[in-house]
Amino acid sequence: MPFRQKKLEVTIKIAYNVQTIDKPLFATFCLASDISNFMKIGSITLKSQTVLAPLAGITNLPFRLIAKENGCGLVCSEMISSNGLVYNSSKTHTMLESVSEEKPLSVQIFGSDPFMMAEAAVMVEASGADILDINFGCSVKKVLKTGSGVALMRDIVKSEAILRAVRSAISIPLTIKIRTGWDKSGKQALDIARMAEGVGVDAIAVHPRTAQQMFQGNADWSVIAAVKQSVSIPVIGNGDIISPEAAIDMFAQTGCDAVMVGRYAMGNPWIFSQIDARLHSRQVPLVNIARRREIMIRYVNASVCHFGEKLACPMMRSRLGWFVRGLPESSRFRESVKYVSSEKEAVEQIESYMDRLILHI
Ligand SMILES: Cc1cc2nc3c(=O)[nH]c(=O)nc-3n(C[C@H](O)[C@H](O)[C@H](O)COP(=O)(O)O)c2cc1C
Repeated sequence: MPFRQKKLEVTIKIAYNVQTIDKPLFATFCLASDISNFMKIGSITLKSQTVLAPLAGITNLPFRLIAKENGCGLVCSEMISSNGLVYNSSKTHTMLESVSEEKPLSVQIFGSDPFMMAEAAVMVEASGADILDINFGCSVKKVLKTGSGVALMRDIVKSEAILRAVRSAISIPLTIKIRTGWDKSGKQALDIARMAEGVGVDAIAVHPRTAQQMFQGNADWSVIAAVKQSVSIPVIGNGDIISPEAAIDMFAQTGCDAVMVGRYAMGNPWIFSQIDARLHSRQVPLVNIARRREIMIRYVNASVCHFGEKLACPMMRSRLGWFVRGLPESSRFRESVKYVSSEKEAVEQIESYMDRLILHI
């Protein structure tokens, strides 16, 4: 066997546990019967203490479905503009589309006007969402300029007005997703969290970076611990979970009730079942090539089904690459999907790449 091929084989075996390729996989996601009621957000019971973070442009219905099918306890929509909903933008309303298989679903809205937010919240509830989440964390300039997102964290009066208006307008559980605030101290996070609990918010997700940090530096998990100490509603910890072990560390270090995964879930949706397995001392499901292929094809199929081929294919050109990060010859695969223009072509490229990986073993 040529040296390069041998090296490839060893790399694949070590890194991706492909020796299990012909054996039945350990349960790839948790069955409902496996688990008791771990966590409640208001009236909604989560079957796993794992949450998919809202990711603008990414956590659309097809992406949420694959997260759910890989053990995620609660999936979240991308942030949706309250103005867009109220002014009846059809593109914005499409973002509310859902299917029963992904339930429970949390829909996140952003905005800064209490009446608009309440009106948008009513629309979200009417669309069948299980939980309404309000964005207190987006630090993108365009959003900040409107006084929305993390800008709300330095205006507790307006924040309270929004939460009161929304709380009285809907009966589904209400959650918020906050950052550390505008300085490192975390004081704004604590003030907003206590105020939110007081007005009837059912859970709080904390991404412990300041507004200026955007996604730079490390998330300061001590802020999650401090929020957890200061409220009695569930706290969801978020930031820098890049492995099941990191999730377990976050539970241990912060006492949070659930963990929320964002960037790492892009290309690693199985992280949810892996965290759940670690949490409950079950064998951590490893993802072999066959399973990876299955998930990628499922993502293509679901995206084409939801968006149609014309819109889905350009998305797949960059997104399929997430799933092969670090795998041998992944750059060749990325190149091969750079111009895919049909579902058939995308599936063929996935299959041919995965076949090549298996043949090398
Ligand atoms: C591409 C991208 C889009 C995001 N969109 C949203 C969003 O719509 N709403 C929100 O609250 N946070 C959003 N975030 C922040 C994430 O939800 C999460 O708080 C952050 O990525 C930290 O978690 P992680 O380290 O697990 O990625 C976004 C982050 C990224 C990278």
